[in-house]
Amino acid sequence: MLSFLHLESLDFKSILLFLVVFLVIADYFKTRKPPNYPPGPFALPFVGNMFSFDAKQPHIYLIKLAETYGDLFSVSLGREHAVVANGYKMVKEALVVQADVFVDRPFSPMSDRLYPHNAGLFMSSGPKWKRHRRFTMTTLRNFGLGKTLMENAICEEIRYLQEEMETQKGDPFNPKMLFNNAVSNIICQLAFSSRSDYSDDTFRNVLQKLNEALNVEGSVWGLLYEAFPGIMKHMPGPHNTIFSNYLDVADFIRKEVERHKEDFDPNNPRDYIDAYITEMQSGSSDTEDFTETNLVMNSLDLFLAGTETTSTTLLWSLVLLIKHPEVQKKVQSEIDAVIGQSRPPSMADKANMPYTEAVIHEIQRIGDIVPINVPRMAGRDTTLGGYFIPKGTSLWTNLSSVLFDKAEWETPDEFNPDHFLDSEGKFRRRDAFLPFSAGKRVCLGEQLARMELFLFFVGLLQKFSFSTEEGVELSLEGDMGATRTPLPFKVFAHTR
Ligand code: HEM
Repeated sequence: MLSFLHLESLDFKSILLFLVVFLVIADYFKTRKPPNYPPGPFALPFVGNMFSFDAKQPHIYLIKLAETYGDLFSVSLGREHAVVANGYKMVKEALVVQADVFVDRPFSPMSDRLYPHNAGLFMSSGPKWKRHRRFTMTTLRNFGLGKTLMENAICEEIRYLQEEMETQKGDPFNPKMLFNNAVSNIICQLAFSSRSDYSDDTFRNVLQKLNEALNVEGSVWGLLYEAFPGIMKHMPGPHNTIFSNYLDVADFIRKEVERHKEDFDPNNPRDYIDAYITEMQSGSSDTEDFTETNLVMNSLDLFLAGTETTSTTLLWSLVLLIKHPEVQKKVQSEIDAVIGQSRPPSMADKANMPYTEAVIHEIQRIGDIVPINVPRMAGRDTTLGGYFIPKGTSLWTNLSSVLFDKAEWETPDEFNPDHFLDSEGKFRRRDAFLPFSAGKRVCLGEQLARMELFLFFVGLLQKFSFSTEEGVELSLEGDMGATRTPLPFKVFAHTR
């Protein structure tokens, strides 16, 4: 009996050993890289570089790896294998010079669950993405992007925001939700002609759900889901809130679509949803993938991209101006000289406000809100930085390494608006200023974001001076979610 048990346990051990060896070999062959593939840190079987990866500061971790492996290297995280482009030259080579190669998004288990059937604008690929991107750009332009109508809507929102800030009566407050709500109202007006009061609890709840989902998405939980979807799908944990919260936000958008269908008038399209319904009903063969599901997912993408990014940048602007009161004063002097106190700002003022324009650019550079960009995929075999990149490879472009590239910026680690000023104090563009990325998938809302940033920023500083509580040193470290946001802080907004 004893020897039988011994034999059984030996068999079990051998089977286990055989299984492990078999799986390791299978993993080796599955993940074997072709000749002249970019080098990278040693990757363990199954988990790759998971244990050394810094999910809190992935951009810094990747910049450090570039010091060892060069501007193009490879990393693996579970099932995810990517090459990483670092520094302005390499990122430009990938996104601009090889714009036609790196257009699509790689497969992502999370996106596949959030956006089934290649839906939406952000994570879709191929002809469907192309048609929707073109349609969305044209529609946003038709409904006011770059027009006075849009400027007026933003200036009206600034008035509401100023009034709300005045109700704080000089007490310190956390500006996050307020900025979120104000900025979101702009994209909501373009997408579904609605604006919500800052006291609207239903809307605030939707914004909070969105915030929470985006935070978890960019955290280690999002990373684990992408790396081990088969296991994570069945595990309890914060990653599940990503999916439940997205469903709630999609529900909110779906209600808007229903509301639009009820009083839809083809002769009088009011916004993005109406324009999309018109396109759906046109019946042309070019619009066969214009479906209601896609309408909801596109609107959701506009809503989330149009809310989180710009409001996060405005939060960074407060952090940086509080840390640099001399810059705050200089911007206010320029506002006083060019606009004064009696009228709201307009986009025409921008040309006369080079210092303010330089400060906004420098805030975006240091704020670095999308540090490792949204991944792209090689659409065919190619050579990048002298290395072979097979079709289907994921490409991460480290935008942080561009915005802080030592070869491009005079004082990369310092907040220095002079980066964007020439010797005569005129605004100067910089090639390595890529917070909106570059190439064919460059941020779709760049023009809207630039307009919002200028008008909100000037509107706020025209009316208020900002400071924080005595003895508090605001941090530049940031919290890594889908965007890099400032750690929670409170401001005093003193009416000027
Ligand atoms: C400061 C503000 C913003 C920043 C820094 C920013 C940055 C970015 C970045 C880095 C990407 C990824 C580009 C790539 O894949 O290479 C992106 C994509 C996108 N952005 Fe923005 N964004 C901002 C504001 C906005 C706004 C206001 C909208 C609203 C219309 C918007 C809509 C989008 C959309 C729809 C995409 C996906 C484009 C595609 O995949 O074709 N963004 N943005």
